[in-house]
Amino acid sequence: MKVTVVGAGAVGASCAEYIAIKDFASEVVLLDIKEGYAEGKAMDLMQTASLNGFDTKITGTTGDYSKTAGSDIVVITSGIPRKPGMTREELIGINAGIVKSVSSSLIEHSPNTIIIVVSNPMDTMTYLVHKTTNLPKNKIIGMGGALDSARFKYRLAEALGAPISDVDGMVIGGHSDKGMVPLTRLATRNSVPVSAFIAEDRLEQVAADTKVGGATLTKLLGTSAWYAPGAAVSGLVQAIACDQKKIFPCSTLLEGEYGLNDLCIGVPVVLGKNGIENIVEIDLSDAEKSKMEESAEGVKKTNGLLEF
Ligand code: LAC
Repeated sequence: MKVTVVGAGAVGASCAEYIAIKDFASEVVLLDIKEGYAEGKAMDLMQTASLNGFDTKITGTTGDYSKTAGSDIVVITSGIPRKPGMTREELIGINAGIVKSVSSSLIEHSPNTIIIVVSNPMDTMTYLVHKTTNLPKNKIIGMGGALDSARFKYRLAEALGAPISDVDGMVIGGHSDKGMVPLTRLATRNSVPVSAFIAEDRLEQVAADTKVGGATLTKLLGTSAWYAPGAAVSGLVQAIACDQKKIFPCSTLLEGEYGLNDLCIGVPVVLGKNGIENIVEIDLSDAEKSKMEESAEGVKKTNGLLEF
């Protein structure tokens, strides 16, 4: 199992670190355009191997895509992150060009790979990777919902005063401050609907805090977050590499599912060795459906800014 992570910035490096710590991949290649940077991060991470007890081999390269040849899974984190006050959509001008050239170079050397897109605006970048690579739709996966759901569970546990392991919940829709749809109605505490424990207005606050989860951290850190994004990507990579058939909300090309067409947006999918093995259609309430439609309109508006 060979995994390439493009972009050795904070998200890419923590993604490589979590993959290595879970010790299921034989090889992780980090690639960056900044001279020596990926090599340095790879060497630093390799020097944690004896301490953290993993055998995954991590190497770095400055822009040499031949080193990524034969990757089973590639993760694209390249591009610029948000600064405080920016929306993810505002990154499109710079990131679209980067994601387009990175994805073309990657599939030249790994034509059968599965691509996980992390760069923002993520749903639109995932759509762009479809248009650029023509890979089958099961092989292109946008990472947003797994992260947003982790943030949702964090906020739910906080409101409930419960441990996070007792809490379950999912966020679908676009990976944007306005577009996320936290499914509060379906969230549970040890299989009991959370509405049995917390009032409706507190639950609405949980949903609102979840939606600005990334923006809250960007304000605190001065740049966008990396631990939870890295951990979320490593969860998707592991589900594919180990054929786990786990359900995560991911951005995927919809062709009629959820009444939506010709866009990538977050919905629950089953992840296994073939990438997206199935799109899971759950019954949404009328309110959830209209939030999903509004979210899709926002994603389509951003897609409209792409030039192919
Ligand atoms: C975030 C970025 C990675 O939500 O989109 O932190």
